[in-house]
Amino acid sequence: MSSSPQKKLNVGILGCGPIAQFAHFESCQKASNVELYSICDVAKDLLDRMQAIWQPTKAFTKYDEMLADEELDAVIIATSDPFHVPLSLKAVAAGKHVLVEKPLSHSIEECQELRQAASAKGVYVQVGHMKRFDPGIEYAQKFIQEKMGEIVALKAWYADNTHRYTATDNVQPLPILSNLTKKPGLHVKSDLERYYMMAHGSHLLDTALFLGGEIGALQASLRQRFDIYCWFIDVAFKNGALGHLDLTIKLRADWHEGFQVYGENGSVFAKTYNPWFYKSSDVECFLESEQQYLRPLGADGFSYRRQLEHFADVIQKSIVPTATTLEHGTDVVRGMIAIKRSLIEGRRIYLDEVKSGSL
Ligand SMILES: NC(=O)c1ccc[n+]([C@@H]2O[C@H](COP(=O)([O-])OP(=O)(O)OC[C@H]3O[C@@H](n4cnc5c(N)ncnc54)[C@H](O)[C@@H]3O)[C@@H](O)[C@H]2O)c1
Repeated sequence: MSSSPQKKLNVGILGCGPIAQFAHFESCQKASNVELYSICDVAKDLLDRMQAIWQPTKAFTKYDEMLADEELDAVIIATSDPFHVPLSLKAVAAGKHVLVEKPLSHSIEECQELRQAASAKGVYVQVGHMKRFDPGIEYAQKFIQEKMGEIVALKAWYADNTHRYTATDNVQPLPILSNLTKKPGLHVKSDLERYYMMAHGSHLLDTALFLGGEIGALQASLRQRFDIYCWFIDVAFKNGALGHLDLTIKLRADWHEGFQVYGENGSVFAKTYNPWFYKSSDVECFLESEQQYLRPLGADGFSYRRQLEHFADVIQKSIVPTATTLEHGTDVVRGMIAIKRSLIEGRRIYLDEVKSGSL
């Protein structure tokens, strides 16, 4: 007797803005284990256009109505940062699993509230740090875990550049916009230092945590000249490894992102591309015992689709998540707050001290 194929996960996308248009609609369409079941946006004109293009089973202007649908299994929260946790809490209360865009939040208290709610309801919440699903970075992490032995030091850098929109406008259709969209009261870019940390620093911290493990303490400095913002962050990982993180925005050069990891039995060297090129990181892992560099191809660089397939697998097949869970998402928020405190107080901050507060 042949077993019936696994039912696909019915996913609803909340928010039809740029990130849904650039990543999530197409990810749902292409994911092997997901059905684009519903979409929702308060902006009816935008909703209608996205419905015509992506053909979900249902479309809603009211989030509560989308959540009330019993056929819906999970929600992607693709809205502005301040709405992430409040809208995730609603989904969790309705018993839906959640893939929420990064950064999870700006506050520890919000993260904790969501963790408690998700655990009480027994639903899975994953944070959209999709770089963990860049096949090169995935390979590097596995090499570090399984072959490299004890980690001695990690350097990671993430520099968004002056020419990024020239490059991305060439590979993406321009997003379809509306005057009816729901936005937070304060414009997210009204405080650029905070915005850059939330938008970009959160990715750098998540990569550092993924590869290096939990951070014990950090000390940050920030130089802001012209319109360049440059943070250098000295990190002490809990496993004893030394760390150095460089977050630079408006770099006068090409996109510049990557990492180096030095370990007992080998080393890792990586260059990461602008995420919208869907190109896997170039990674070389040197294994001392073989005296050879290992270099994965990583042909499938659609990290947004791959994070979604993983999300569905965690829910449907109970695999152990390698994604950014609520615990890791909270650690990223804690790291961002620690960086800010270190700048204000001019000292090293132990992350265990950061039990509350916001960015
Ligand atoms: N992972 C990545 O690489 C990446 C890249 C870019 C942006 N992002 C993240 O994506 C998120 C969204 O970015 P964006 O530029 O698409 O945002 P946006 O604010 O432009 O669009 C969000 C859409 O959601 C709708 N919306 C908000 N609240 C709603 C509600 N309660 N009910 C119905 N509709 C609602 C709005 O009307 C809007 O159309 C941000 O958190 C950002 O950090 C992630």
